[in-house]
Amino acid sequence: GTTLGASAAEKGRYFGAAVAAGRMGDNTYLTILNREFNSVTAENEMKWDATEPQQGRFSYTNADRIVNHARSRGMSVRGHTLLWHAQQPGWAQGMSGSALRNAAMNHVTQVASYYRGRIHSWDVVNEAFADGSGGGRRDSNLQRTGNDWIEAAFRAADAADPGAKLCYNDYNTDGINAKSTGIYNMVRDFKARGVPIDCVGFQSHLSNSVPGDYQANLQRFADLGVDVQITELDISGSNQAAVYGTVTRACLAVARCTGITVWGIRDTDSWRTGQNPLLFDGNGNKKPAYDAVLNAL
Ligand code: XIL
Repeated sequence: GTTLGASAAEKGRYFGAAVAAGRMGDNTYLTILNREFNSVTAENEMKWDATEPQQGRFSYTNADRIVNHARSRGMSVRGHTLLWHAQQPGWAQGMSGSALRNAAMNHVTQVASYYRGRIHSWDVVNEAFADGSGGGRRDSNLQRTGNDWIEAAFRAADAADPGAKLCYNDYNTDGINAKSTGIYNMVRDFKARGVPIDCVGFQSHLSNSVPGDYQANLQRFADLGVDVQITELDISGSNQAAVYGTVTRACLAVARCTGITVWGIRDTDSWRTGQNPLLFDGNGNKKPAYDAVLNAL
């Protein structure tokens, strides 16, 4: 293939980008999006603060802009994200206990129902594990409602949209480490008990290198019976092109690695300001990192 999306499709995968609704009027941006990618993730527009700014009042205008554009062009959509400790609306930040649990599960049900049939994969829960050596959960208002909040969210999402693949998504999980092993143990437990989980997302916000056991880590999750996806790839540093190639080859080497999403299009679109971690420069030109990915696909 001559584009990322077409080349990935030849290998049975998708190649996606995070998209910001506010940039879709930019012609350079839109041209690259439409030419190169066959999957999109809303960068912010499907988060809890965006979709339920007041409790029980749902707002889908910006998310729909992205979803409708994608679907009208045959791109698939990753839903990001139903529950997360960050980017919660103010009203939820101030809640706790059963009131928060009920509000959170209602949020999952409402948003997943609204988009039922239109989402390839949902990040049902994002970043619920702690960094460091403990391997346990991150403290958050959601975690304080009870350790079962994650499985409750997956069951609610499954009831609302049984056709979507339901993913757990996190960062600093790129190698075999305490955090990724904590998640691995949760997924193994979910599979053993029939909790509906279909996929694990590896954000892969990287800085100039990738752990040597990256592919082995993807493979150990796949061996639990879930798909794996690289969900927010961006890579800073002088070794950028080579690392992009390594990550792409690792995904292709794992049969259940079903797709790669980069977290933005041009360097100037990146949340990592000044780090130039993406595949296109600020003028929309392909970088060596782009060639490395296309060659690896
Ligand atoms: C980031 C967005 O890119 C920014 O625009 C926003 O200000 C903060 O969130 N992990 C995630 C993403 O799961 O949702 C985050 O996106 C980046 C880190």
